[in-house]
Amino acid sequence: MGHTVKGLAILGSTGSIGTQTLDIVRTFPDRFRVVGLAARKSFDVLESQVREFRPKLVSYEGGHAHTAALRDLGCRACSLDDMVLDPDVQMAVTATVGDVALGPTITALKAGKDVALANKESIVMAGEYLTKLARKHNATLLPLDSEPNAIWQCMRGEDRKIDRLIITASGGAMRHASLEELATVTPERALKHPTWKMGPKITIDSATLMNKAFEVIEARWLFDVPWERIEVVIHPQSIIHSMVEFEDGSVKAQLSPPDMRLPIQYALFYPKRVRNTKLQRFDPVKTGALTFERMQPERYPCFELAMEYGRRGGTWPAVLCGADEAAVSAFLGGRLGFLGMAPVIMKALEAHKSVADPTPEQSLQAAKWASERVTSLVA
Ligand SMILES: NC(=O)c1ccc[n+]([C@@H]2O[C@H](COP(=O)([O-])OP(=O)(O)OC[C@H]3O[C@@H](n4cnc5c(N)ncnc54)[C@H](OP(=O)(O)O)[C@@H]3O)[C@@H](O)[C@H]2O)c1
Repeated sequence: MGHTVKGLAILGSTGSIGTQTLDIVRTFPDRFRVVGLAARKSFDVLESQVREFRPKLVSYEGGHAHTAALRDLGCRACSLDDMVLDPDVQMAVTATVGDVALGPTITALKAGKDVALANKESIVMAGEYLTKLARKHNATLLPLDSEPNAIWQCMRGEDRKIDRLIITASGGAMRHASLEELATVTPERALKHPTWKMGPKITIDSATLMNKAFEVIEARWLFDVPWERIEVVIHPQSIIHSMVEFEDGSVKAQLSPPDMRLPIQYALFYPKRVRNTKLQRFDPVKTGALTFERMQPERYPCFELAMEYGRRGGTWPAVLCGADEAAVSAFLGGRLGFLGMAPVIMKALEAHKSVADPTPEQSLQAAKWASERVTSLVA
C-alpha cells in the first residue's frame, strides 16, 4: 500500500529545530512534501533550502531583493497565515522563536490543521486558549519539544489518570557555576549547553531554567494536569526526557540519546513509529549512570518567578514571555549581566495589570508591552 504524503509548512526553517525538521524530511523524501518555508534573516540558508526542497511558498522578512531572488527560484512570497492555510499544507511546524508563531498557530487550528509545536512561547502565552481551540476544530497540537514529547509518548495507551509528571532538566550550561561566576559569566560561556545544541534564546533560557518553567506551563495545558502534580528534577545526562507516574505508582519514562530529531520525527509521523538509521541508539552500558538531583530553587530565580506568575494565568504568562525575550536579548547583547535578567523580568511583572481570560491579541499586546518595559529598564 502506498504512503500518503504529508504537506508541511515549516515556520522558522533556518533555525535549530527547522533544519532538524528538514533533515527528517530529507531522510523520508517520499513521506513529506515541503509546501512552505519561512525565515527572517538567514537568507543563504533559506535559499539553499529552497533549492533543495522546492517549496511553492516562502516567507522572508529580509527585503525585496531577496524575495525577488526566491521568486526566481519558483516560489511565491506569502504571509505565515496564508502559508499554513494553503490547501496542500496538512501540518504546520512552528519552529520560530518568540511570539511570531502564535497567530499562524491559531489560524492553522481554526482551519482544522495539525500543528507540530516546537515554539513553546505560544503555548505559554495562550495555552488554555490554544488547547480549547484545537479541541473545537478537531485539530491536534503535537509537541516537538523533547520533554512534552516524552510525556506524550509515555501516555499513549493509558487513560489520563496521572498522579505526577516528572519533567527532567539538564540544569543548563551554568549548573556548576558559583554565584560569583554567574555574576560575571559572558554570553559565549552561557551559550555552551552541555547536552543540547539549540538556538541562542532557548540555550540561555535553559541556563536560567526559565525554559523549564515554560515546559511546566506547556505540560499543564497540553496534558491538562494540575500544577501541583508537575515536578522538575535535575538529570544532567539528558537521557530520560520526562516521566509519568500513574495511579498505581507505576512510572513510565522515555529514554533516548539527546537528539531533537527523534521527537520531531515522532510528531511528524504520529501515530506511526518508523526506523531512522541516522539516529544514534541508546546504549545502557556505555551511557552508565543516570543520576537525579533536587533542583535548588535559589540558583534559579527565573524559574521561581515564572512558576508563580505562570500559574496566575491571565496576561501574566505573556508578560513573562515578552520580558524574558527582552532580558535574554539584553544579556546576549552585553547590556545586562546574567544575574540581572530575573530582576528586570520581575520589575515588568510587578508593573503589569493583568487581564483575565485574555484574547490572543491582548496576550500579544501584553508581551510587547513587557518587552519594551524591560528594554527601557535596561537602558
Ligand atoms: N532548539 C531546540 O532544540 C528546541 C527544543 C525545544 C523547543 N524549542 C523551541 O523551538 C523554537 C525555535 O527554537 P530554535 O532553537 O530552533 O531557534 P533558532 O535556532 O534561533 O531559530 C529560530 C528560527 O525562527 C526564524 N524566525 C524568527 N523570527 C521569524 C519571523 N518573524 N518570521 C519567520 N521566521 C522567523 C529564524 O529565522 P532566521 O534564522 O532567518 O532569523 C529561525 O529560522 C523556540 O520557541 C524554542 O523554545 C527548541
